Amino acid sequence: MCRHALVTGASSGLGRELVRQLVRDRGMTVLATARRLDRLETLAAELPPGRVAVEAGDLADPGFRDRLWQRAEAMSGGLDLLVNNAGLGDFAAFADQTPESMRRIVEVNLMALMDLTQKAVRHMRSRGSGQILQVSSVLGFIGLPYSAVYVATKHAVNGLVKSLRYELRGTGVRVWAACPGRTESEFWNVALGEAGRTDAFPRGEPAAKVVRAIVRGLDGRRAFLLTGALARATVALARWLPGPFEWSMLRWSAGYFGGEIERASRH
Ligand SMILES: NC(=O)c1ccc[n+]([C@@H]2O[C@H](COP(=O)([O-])OP(=O)(O)OC[C@H]3O[C@@H](n4cnc5c(N)ncnc54)[C@H](OP(=O)(O)O)[C@@H]3O)[C@@H](O)[C@H]2O)c1
Repeated sequence: MCRHALVTGASSGLGRELVRQLVRDRGMTVLATARRLDRLETLAAELPPGRVAVEAGDLADPGFRDRLWQRAEAMSGGLDLLVNNAGLGDFAAFADQTPESMRRIVEVNLMALMDLTQKAVRHMRSRGSGQILQVSSVLGFIGLPYSAVYVATKHAVNGLVKSLRYELRGTGVRVWAACPGRTESEFWNVALGEAGRTDAFPRGEPAAKVVRAIVRGLDGRRAFLLTGALARATVALARWLPGPFEWSMLRWSAGYFGGEIERASRH
């Protein structure tokens, strides 16, 4: 039975909702992390006392990841579930993206995720049980213009999951990925920058609904969970009707999406 979890990116969006549902619906105790301590403390105060511990810090810092892991491992009885949820994007033409921005996305979305995954694999394999859940994206299967670095990290996460599934067969450790489509959160505000206006883009599914699907997925055996009808339809279209899919991405997505990003960045 899953009792103790570590959830990254717990200060907003999907991560915050994951903590709520793991505590309320699954009776778990959660170590919640993100950089914004005030947000984490507010979340802990909203849930029953003693059920949420917080550790604030920057996942791009390997020293912080070591400290975080020491605390996770010390949870009584060990860690049953790692949720690598923290992530960010930066909507921009690839040619204009700065090395700092690219490094930051890769550090958080990929390096931190791989580091914590490796620590969890060692810990859980020796106990013979546990789950490692990567919050990836529908963009781990398909491309999107003006998001190349973000999309590359999500493809890498999906590749990691595919490979680790084979490697961990028979160990009692399950590695899998939840792949949401567009979800209401702060993600797009971050990706468009402070001045970005997001009302031109579709709103996406409520985080609580997406998280309900993810939490149900803890009871399953899938490697990849597409969390909503739109995500499933998008990946199915790309797989089974690649011609029309390519056409729509080249025509609609590059034109509309690129235009809106340029407009947002001028605001
Ligand atoms: N929203 C979508 O449309 C969508 C769709 C598919 C997949 N996803 C994925 O879902 C996951 C959660 O995103 P979200 O939509 O919930 O976005 P969000 O509301 O922006 O949340 C991102 C979380 O990551 C944390 N984070 C960012 N940089 C960090 C760093 N350097 N160190 C520690 N924590 C950091 C943020 O906390 P602090 O700022 O407090 O550090 C925040 O808690 C991401 O992996 C994203 O790629 C999102």
